[in-house]
Amino acid sequence: MKILKIEHLGLACRSSEKAASFYSDALGLPVVSRETLPDMKLKVVKVEAGESVLELLEPMEGEPVISKFLASRGEGVHHVCFEVEDVRAATQELKGKGYSPLWEEPKRGAGGKWVNFLRPRETFGVLLELNEPAP
Ligand code: CO
Repeated sequence: MKILKIEHLGLACRSSEKAASFYSDALGLPVVSRETLPDMKLKVVKVEAGESVLELLEPMEGEPVISKFLASRGEGVHHVCFEVEDVRAATQELKGKGYSPLWEEPKRGAGGKWVNFLRPRETFGVLLELNEPAP
């Protein structure tokens, strides 16, 4: 697989709007998108820092993943996302190398991008997201 860059950092927060206000008011970073992902029960606000993005993740009622992270670890860095040329191919390559991506096939995440994840137990403690540029 070819990793192109660190595309974003995913930050777990209790209120994506309050967090976004901090990044925009205190640090002067532009908010570039606000999305609600009903399937994943997440609110996602993206803030741009130069060519990098911070993804502010707020769980909605009944969301299982970020909620659990917030309960056990509190607010903070949740995942690192690498941009790859082809997430489907990267998923197959990792499976071939004996790793266990979260999903058998990539799913659509924020911004409609295809994504998959590698769990922290296989990556020395960091949840890694792989995504590819939107077509
Ligand atoms: Co992400």
